[in-house]
Amino acid sequence: MDNLIQKVFTPYKINQLEIKNRLIMAPMTRSKSPNSIPGEDVAEYYKRRAEGEIGLIITEGTTVDTPNSSNDINIPTFFGQKSIDGWKRVVEDVHESGGLIFPQLWHQGTMRRAEDTWNPEIKSYGPSGLSSPGKEVAEPMTSDEIEKTIDAFVKATILAKEIGFDGVEYHGAHGYLLDQFFWEGTNIRSDEWGGENLALRSKFASDIVKRSREEVGKEFPLIIRFSQWKQQDFTHKMAESPDELKGFLDTFVDAGIDAFHCSQRRFWENEFDDSPLNLAGWTKKLSNKPVITVGSIGLNVEFVESFNGKPSDIDTDLTDLLNRLNEEEFDFIAIGRALISNPDWAQMLRNNDFSNMKGFSPADLEALI
Ligand code: FNR
Repeated sequence: MDNLIQKVFTPYKINQLEIKNRLIMAPMTRSKSPNSIPGEDVAEYYKRRAEGEIGLIITEGTTVDTPNSSNDINIPTFFGQKSIDGWKRVVEDVHESGGLIFPQLWHQGTMRRAEDTWNPEIKSYGPSGLSSPGKEVAEPMTSDEIEKTIDAFVKATILAKEIGFDGVEYHGAHGYLLDQFFWEGTNIRSDEWGGENLALRSKFASDIVKRSREEVGKEFPLIIRFSQWKQQDFTHKMAESPDELKGFLDTFVDAGIDAFHCSQRRFWENEFDDSPLNLAGWTKKLSNKPVITVGSIGLNVEFVESFNGKPSDIDTDLTDLLNRLNEEEFDFIAIGRALISNPDWAQMLRNNDFSNMKGFSPADLEALI
């Protein structure tokens, strides 16, 4: 595996940003920001990953400025002076330790159940008020709400640049607001924000990218995370063919996206029949942009089972992953849970020494270790 590991520690660029290796911290909600303000412990948590030589950190989802973007007051906001000051501290600490960091900008849409939140009087919304096909839980968004929500994402992008973040990731995956527009099961609008194909339904998210790009200039890295699967339907494929996927990707390339973060639960699963390529592999081939793969790297249990309480052992045979990286199926590898349990996972890989590596236990989420 030694010679395969070398490639991991070669730099690669997203837009003009050189990332020192191919390892990225996956965005992971921690709900450890009381009153939605990321504190010193959050800064230290990210700093430990930068010290552990992860190439790029993508923060936990942090919510944009609409009253209904979040279901948990402990999820950090990306607005409000105290939160902004908290994020500044995070950025400074990560940079001092030689790391790079993007916030993941998030709106939950209809996945936020108003009645389960600290602000139940505020209604949730989504493209058609649906949380899954046929399941109406909230109001469809008005055109005005759509415009205001796009604005909230654009303002957050501008703010990220001002604070000193190295780029931005939009959370377009896992059945949250942006994904609710993509999915034909949750977007049944007949106006310009809906449409009969995936490319048409990507307008909401690609407008966020386009308008943000106009504001932050050509060089500020903008990336989007997307997934075929939804929390509401793990087997769903919103793009059933490479052609459909290409139509989707093209809207983002035209809008000025710099890279795609392709979320799978298991990175080794092929995306379409008759090809071993995974989602990131197809995305690279069809878009010619840098791509990030993710899903069960270094662990033998996937993350949804972890949420159900199952602990995971380490998986030290990374040959398949590293072969694919060496063959340039994808450019970056995002690590989730393994990096929660092992802040210095990158250094362990570089030294090819797994002797101190820990598996992932759901209890590891209790504190910011
Ligand atoms: C996640 N994941 C996630 N994804 C995302 O896009 N935004 C988020 O805020 C979160 N939050 C989150 C919290 C926790 C505790 C976990 C474990 C996961 C998904 C995550 O980024 C990643 O895609 C999966 O965990 C799969 O990667 P691993 O853990 O198998 O390496």
